[in-house]
This record gives sequence, structure tokens and C-alpha cells, in this order.
Amino acid sequence: MQPDNSSAIITVKKLHKCYWVGSMPFPALNGVNLSIDRGEFAVLAGRSGSGKSTLLNVIGALESADNGEVIVNGENILGMNHTERTLFRLHNIGFVFQSFNLIRVLSARENIAYVCQLQGMDKKESEGIADHWLNEVDMGHLGYRRPDQLSGGQQQRVAVARALATNPKIVLADEPTANLDTQTGQRLMCLLQQLNDKFGTTFLISSHDPDVKNAARRLIKLADGQVVRKWEKIPPAPPPISKACPIKNLPLAGRIRQFLRKKRKRPSKTGEKGPTPRRS
Ligand SMILES: Nc1ncnc2c1ncn2[C@@H]1O[C@H](COP(=O)(O)OP(=O)(O)OP(=O)(O)O)[C@@H](O)[C@H]1O
Ligand SMILES: [Mg+2]
Repeated sequence: MQPDNSSAIITVKKLHKCYWVGSMPFPALNGVNLSIDRGEFAVLAGRSGSGKSTLLNVIGALESADNGEVIVNGENILGMNHTERTLFRLHNIGFVFQSFNLIRVLSARENIAYVCQLQGMDKKESEGIADHWLNEVDMGHLGYRRPDQLSGGQQQRVAVARALATNPKIVLADEPTANLDTQTGQRLMCLLQQLNDKFGTTFLISSHDPDVKNAARRLIKLADGQVVRKWEKIPPAPPPISKACPIKNLPLAGRIRQFLRKKRKRPSKTGEKGPTPRRS
């Protein structure tokens, strides 16, 4: 853990992230710089494909990155292994997803109690916390229902309660209103703002919904995998692909395929023909 001498709870520096489709690199984040203070309520806006979900996933330690620095709550998350990241998420981050991601066979109350039990709480304590958070999101009377017995807005309230039940420092919400009608979406945003005011939890929310952008206390604009000050300003040119997407980060299967392809093309030194290319 690094000394925490700033008010920033999230610091992202020169962050690069590349996806590989086969051996083709697709840079999704092109040197993102960003700082979010404790207790902020910030919205990440940008066109489809600008890198919003990728950035949230890297900050939330769900995905790794190629280059740069990501410090969340004093921890360097890019330096963590798989197990460390899982534990980090459990103790620091609450997630709210567009598609709610509730467990279908569990009731609303059990969905929330389950994550508390993962944190090591016993059944009784977990159920008490679940009841508390169901009341906070005005769902106390429907805790016995399963997700398919709830409306979209009600399911998202349960998902918000579940995200907050583990007392996370940060809540990351990826398009939380995308599956809700306008009014329900507006009500959800009011609820998130109230929770931010009441508990001081930091919120980082991605969206292209204008209502969500209006609710933002801070709007962060993302274009082509970079944070920009103004939409109309063209972001600086990204680095060359060879630098942005280092070949060493190509997943192993892709590297083997690339190696075999090169080997097939290369004639051998003895003049023999290489292996006959496979017919597709
Ligand atoms: N698993 C993946 N494999 C390959 N490319 C991907 C993958 N996930 C995302 N990308 C690419 O990375 C870029 C950023 O994607 P991302 O999902 O972060 O965008 P977004 O801003 O969240 O878009 P949306 O608003 O549509 O959700 C896009 O060009 C996308 O095609
Ligand atoms: Mg997205």
C-alpha cells in the first residue's frame, strides 16, 4: 500500500489498453490521464466505442492493461495478480451493471446477503445488512421476490443495494440506466446522488444518457480512448500501434498462431519446402 497523501481515490496515468482479436491489435485506451477525488460523483461520457467500459473495468480490477499506472484507494492495481485483484474488488469496489447481473435463483434479499457472506460475514449479520440496504433503496417490502418478479427499475435498485452492502470505497456503474425507461432512470440517478451525499461513497458512472450527464457533478469526456476537454477538440494522435499494443501482451494462443503462420511462409535453409499450408 502506497502512502495516501492526496485527496484522490483514483489516479490513472498514461493508461494504455489493447484488445487482441486473433493476432490483430485494437487499442481501446490510448494514454488516459484521470484523477477522481474521494466522494466525487463523476460521469464518464463518450460515444459508443470510446472506451468507457474498458476504463471502468480496468479501474475496477476486472481487466488488466498494457501500460501506465492505476492507483485506486492507494493500491497499484496493475501490479496485482489474479487473487489479489479478486480480494481488492471484494473489499473496495461495488459494481452496478447495465443488465443488473442479479442471481436469478436468489431473492433480492439473498442476492445482497450473498456478497456480504463472501466478505466473511455470517448469515444473520449478512441478512441484517441486506435488510438495511433494501430499505435504503426503498425496496424493503419486496426483498422476498426473485429478480424475474421485479421490474427493471426495482432490479437496478437491488443491484445498487448489493453494490453498497459491502461498504465499498468506490461504486462503478456501467450504463446503469440503459435498460430503464426515462422516468425510472431519472429516479435511479436521484437515488445514486442521495447515496453519494449521505455516505460519501465515490461514484464513477459511464453513460450516454443525457439525464445521467445532467446529473453529473463532474463530467469526464472520453473520445477515442483519451480524456478530452472539449468534444470538438480532436484528441492528440495516439502512439503507433507497435508501441500501444506490445506484441508481448498478445495472448499466448495468438502468439503461437502467429509463429506458425510465419514458419509456414519462411522457406527452410536446406531449400526444403516448409509444411504444406492447411486448407481451410
Ligand atoms: N473483448 C474485446 N475484444 C476486442 N475489442 C474490444 C473488446 N471489448 C471492447 N473492444 C473494443 O474496444 C473499444 C472500446 O470499447 P468499450 O466497450 O470500452 O467502449 P464503450 O465506450 O463502453 O462503448 P459503449 O458505449 O458501446 O458501451 C471499442 O472499439 C471496442 O470495439
Ligand atoms: Mg460500454
